[in-house]
Amino acid sequence: MSGWLSQAYPWIKSLHIVSVVAWMAGLLYLPRLYVYHSTAAAGSELSETFKIMERRLLRGIMTPAMVATWGFGLALAGTPGAVDWQMGWIWAKLALVIGLTIFHFLLARWRAAFEADRNRGSTRLFRIVNELPTLALIAIVILVVVKPF
Ligand code: HEM
Repeated sequence: MSGWLSQAYPWIKSLHIVSVVAWMAGLLYLPRLYVYHSTAAAGSELSETFKIMERRLLRGIMTPAMVATWGFGLALAGTPGAVDWQMGWIWAKLALVIGLTIFHFLLARWRAAFEADRNRGSTRLFRIVNELPTLALIAIVILVVVKPF
């Protein structure tokens, strides 16, 4: 490994992991807020409070953290010699990360519906989708650390 990207590699990896933690915190918590929000009457004070919490979490933390995760992750991926592209784990990881990114935009759509008092998702739906980022997180960490294939 040579060049400035290689020099900065451990720093970029640290920033990548910090961004991942912030993004994941939101991906795990926002659907949990939707579970509670879906039981609150539209227009109620409780519902309005959830709207503020959801907007700040998504705009203030999750979207910047997602952009940072992608930016630092692509910088790691672009570091000469850092990744063996013949291995399967990196491709499986990228597929899961694209899944998490789609999930992020799905959460943003649900948030917009809540904001407009037009949520149609059930409490049960949000309980189920709440488990998805947990499964993706477990799989991704095993893929990047164990590199099983
Ligand atoms: C958004 C797109 C992403 C890209 C392009 C990306 C790419 C990378 C690359 C190339 C590495 C270095 C791998 C190595 O040195 O073996 C890395 C490290 C890592 N990534 Fe990502 N990543 C992304 C998102 C994520 C996400 C969402 C998670 C967790 C949920 C994650 C968790 C990690 C961890 C824990 C490491 C450190 C592994 C080690 O000990 O070397 N990454 N990432």
